Amino acid sequence: MTLSLLSGSAHTRLGQEIGEILGVMPTVCEVERFPDGELQVKVGPLNDGDVYIVQPTGPPVNDHMVELLLLIDACRRESAGRITAVIPYLGYARQDRRTASGQSVAAQVFARAITTSGADRVVVVDPHTPAVETLFDVPVELLTAVPVLARALEKHIGEDTVIVAPDLGAVKLAEHYGSVLGRTGVIVRKTRHSGTEVSVEEVVGDVVGRHVVIVDDMISTGATVRAAAGAVLERGALPDLVVAATHGLLVSTENEGPIFPNIQHVLVTDSVAARPIPGVPLEVVSIASLLADGIDRLHQRRPPADQAMRR
Ligand code: R5P
Repeated sequence: MTLSLLSGSAHTRLGQEIGEILGVMPTVCEVERFPDGELQVKVGPLNDGDVYIVQPTGPPVNDHMVELLLLIDACRRESAGRITAVIPYLGYARQDRRTASGQSVAAQVFARAITTSGADRVVVVDPHTPAVETLFDVPVELLTAVPVLARALEKHIGEDTVIVAPDLGAVKLAEHYGSVLGRTGVIVRKTRHSGTEVSVEEVVGDVVGRHVVIVDDMISTGATVRAAAGAVLERGALPDLVVAATHGLLVSTENEGPIFPNIQHVLVTDSVAARPIPGVPLEVVSIASLLADGIDRLHQRRPPADQAMRR
C-alpha cells in the first residue's frame, strides 16, 4: 500500500513538516465552511492507500473534531486501504470519566465517533491519560513528547532543580521527566472549581531555595500552572520558574491578569498551532520527527519504538 499523508486545516504546517521528513508530499484537504457553520470536506482519490490524516483537535475544538470525522469518512468513501487518524492533541480527552452525575463521558463519545467514521488506527501524543486508549475499539498508538521536551529543558535545569507536578493527574508525567532528567519530584494537590478556576490544597515535597520546573500534559487557560507557581513561590522556591507542557493551547481568558506571571520560560510542542502571546517567554519544540517516525513505523508495520508512551 502506498503511504498517503493528508493534512486537515487545524495545523497544515505540521503536516508539511512531517511530509518533508517522510519525503511524501502531504495533500491539504479542501475544507469549506457554509454560512450556517457546517463544514464540507473533499479529499482526492486514495486508491487503496495507507492513509494518515494529521489533524490535532485543538481550539476551536469542535470545528477541528468535526472536520477530522468528516475527513476520515471521506477517505473511507474514497476507498482508502487503511486509515490512521494522527491526532497530536486529542481534545475532549480530559472528559474521560464523569465527575458529577448528569455529565457525559465526552472522550468516549468522540472515540466512538472517530472509530465509526472509519479510522482503523489512532495516533495520539501525550493524551490527558493513557487510559483514553481503552475508549477506542481500534489500536491506539500513544507517543510521548517527554524526551523531546526534556532535551530542550536541559539548558534550564541545575543540580538543585525539582520537577513539580501541578496536580495529581500529572504525577506520572513528572516521574517520567524526573527519570529522563535525573531529578526528584514535588506534587501540588489542586482542586478545580471551574474551567478557569483552580486552587491549591497542599504542596508535597520540599521546594525551599530550589529551582523549579513545572510539567503538565497541557496548558489551556494557564490556571493550573499559575496556581502551582504561586504555591511553590510561597513555599520558598527560587523565582525563575520554568514550565514544560506538551500541548500549548494557551487560550485567552478575559479579565485575567498576565497568563504567566513570575514564569521565566515556557516550553511547549507544536502539537497544536502555537499562538504567540505578548509577554510570554514561549519556546516551541517541534514534534514533527516524533510523528513522522511513528507514521513510518506503522506504515512499515514495525514494532513500537522505545519512545512509545506506556505509563
Ligand atoms: C488537567 O488535569 C490537565 O492536566 C491540565 O492541568 C489542565 O487541563 C490545564 O488547564 P488550565 O491551563 O486551564 O488550568
